[in-house]
Amino acid sequence: MEIIVLPDPDAVARTAADIIEERVRRGPSVLGLATGSTPLGTYRELIERHRHGLSFAEAQAFLLDEYVGLPAAHPESYRSVIRREFAGHVDFAADAVHGLDGEAADPAAEAARYEASIAAAGGVDVQLLGIGTDGHIGFNEPMSSLASRTRIKTLTEQTRRDNARFFASPDEVPEHVLTQGLGTILEARHLLLLGLGEAKAAAVAAAVEGPVAAICPASALQLHPHVTVLVDAAAAAELA
Ligand code: F6R
Repeated sequence: MEIIVLPDPDAVARTAADIIEERVRRGPSVLGLATGSTPLGTYRELIERHRHGLSFAEAQAFLLDEYVGLPAAHPESYRSVIRREFAGHVDFAADAVHGLDGEAADPAAEAARYEASIAAAGGVDVQLLGIGTDGHIGFNEPMSSLASRTRIKTLTEQTRRDNARFFASPDEVPEHVLTQGLGTILEARHLLLLGLGEAKAAAVAAAVEGPVAAICPASALQLHPHVTVLVDAAAAAELA
């Protein structure tokens, strides 16, 4: 695991964009995309690079997770967020950006369909990840199985509070999500975890320096052979 401490969020965004650009320029690629606030600077940087010639025409993308019960057209569904913040501003081919259907009548079947479509694409080359204040990645909350696959999960109260800023009221934050499992995420060939701000400092330290344990789902990254952790100075504050 490589841990790179950078001075500020802009430097994290540029470095993450460098890693993604390098892979995209090498030929057809499969990107794993996270939502939330953390990757927004990286997406802005990639959009800027697209304006200067970086093409995503040969790339595919898979979202990490999705709220259950939100229609795709809801502004906070992760399919809407990714279109608005990234995919809609670059040149992905039609149908190259894949998400989970949060309204699927049979969530288990939807999860199995998603796993199969990741496999059919040849697996994820670079998986972008944020980290929750409780150490979650994707929406694998504490005590998720380290071998878990895509499935329906219940959000913790802490995560619903953390995400309430995106909704008109805290009650509107869905209680359930579909998320790639830890086992699914660990199959990506390169994991790129971003941590920004002091609120993430404890989770980042637990993830990279603590024991590998289900209480901190991001600690599962220690089991992966190719992980890059990019943190700003504030998020690095509790590293030894
Ligand atoms: C989002 C996701 C989550 C977020 C995490 C951090 O697709 O999978 O794990 O990365 O909740 O969220 P932010 O970046 O908003 O602090």
